[in-house]
Amino acid sequence: MSAVASLRQEFPLLAAASDLHYLDSAATSQIHRRALDAVVRHETGSRANVSRGTHRLAEAADRAYEHARLSAARFLNAASPAEIVFTSGATASLNLVAHAFGSTLRAGDRVVISVAEHHSNFVPWQQLRERTGIELALIPVTDSGELDLSCLSGLIGSTCRLVAVTQCSNVTGAWTDVAAIVAAACKVGARVLLDGAQAVQHGPQDVQALGVDFYAFSGHKCFGPGGIGVLWGRENLLTALPPFMSGGGMVGEVTPEATTWAAPPRRFEAGTPPIAQAVGLAAALEWMMGLDWVRIHARENDLCQQLIGGLLRIPGLRLLGPVSGRRASIVSFDIPGLHPHDICQVLDAHRLALRGGHHCAQPLMAAFGVEACTRASIALYNDTADIAALLDGLGVVLRELT
Ligand code: ALA
Repeated sequence: MSAVASLRQEFPLLAAASDLHYLDSAATSQIHRRALDAVVRHETGSRANVSRGTHRLAEAADRAYEHARLSAARFLNAASPAEIVFTSGATASLNLVAHAFGSTLRAGDRVVISVAEHHSNFVPWQQLRERTGIELALIPVTDSGELDLSCLSGLIGSTCRLVAVTQCSNVTGAWTDVAAIVAAACKVGARVLLDGAQAVQHGPQDVQALGVDFYAFSGHKCFGPGGIGVLWGRENLLTALPPFMSGGGMVGEVTPEATTWAAPPRRFEAGTPPIAQAVGLAAALEWMMGLDWVRIHARENDLCQQLIGGLLRIPGLRLLGPVSGRRASIVSFDIPGLHPHDICQVLDAHRLALRGGHHCAQPLMAAFGVEACTRASIALYNDTADIAALLDGLGVVLRELT
């Protein structure tokens, strides 16, 4: 059995569906067996609420939850587990920053995002603009959908308070030149929020080396359970921010007159958190931290280039993203005259799972001049058979739909 075939067996859904070509990991990756087992073990052995109980089961739940925080801190190379806030996903993490950090901004302050953002890092800033009168500026994209950093100095000026950008586009697969963004933001004292949703399934991250201030990601995109995400923030910044949601668990003291806040991360975790999901996420992250990412990247890149090479042989097909360079294994394309939903339906009949639509990135679709596109996303459990099946499947699409 090849290394990838044996890796595939570690994912319960893929192990049970040997004929499935799953090429939609940018939407949701498959869950690793260790993550699933950790959830079941927790729910059947340590299920209790956290930060509230004094019985032994509650103490076990507390330990498991705080251990999960430690794993997430290690995965991101955070300076301290206190910098890890558990949320319900990247969208919740981004909204948290838009509300908590956003409440410190005033009319005329500038937030810079990019045309390539997922709606989850776009709409919350538009809403903040509605609420407070901030100015929202957009980094444009090049013809291949990469952030056009040639206009950074014009966009990131003295009124800029925050730059919030994707680390890796969920449409084009292009990696952002984070160092250039951080350098421009540092010059004017602006903070940087990185949306790592698409980056984390390609390996552990180092927020300190990246030099950013906030980092958001979801568990379901890095082989963990759904319903869990992380917001990392520098401890001094989190400490200075007001809460977003309020309720139980996030307070210092509540009197009829006023309430004081708990220190971060609790300040940002109102209510009962997703405890079992955090435990499952930690198992996935621990597993990922033991992998050889140099080899995995080489293989993902190889598959990506095989796919791009095959796609570019299809007459009229337009690749929406860079052909090569600093790109992750996310490949989107447009075949004029064919709707991505029709393409995906035909492919689905051949056991190929891809996403077709606007990918929650309508401003980027508009920049490309399309309403929607078809996307294949390759993860560590994919192999050449998946790529060959997709290229064959597209041959069927062209025969049946044109
Ligand atoms: N953000 C996910 C995607 O791009 C859902 O498909």
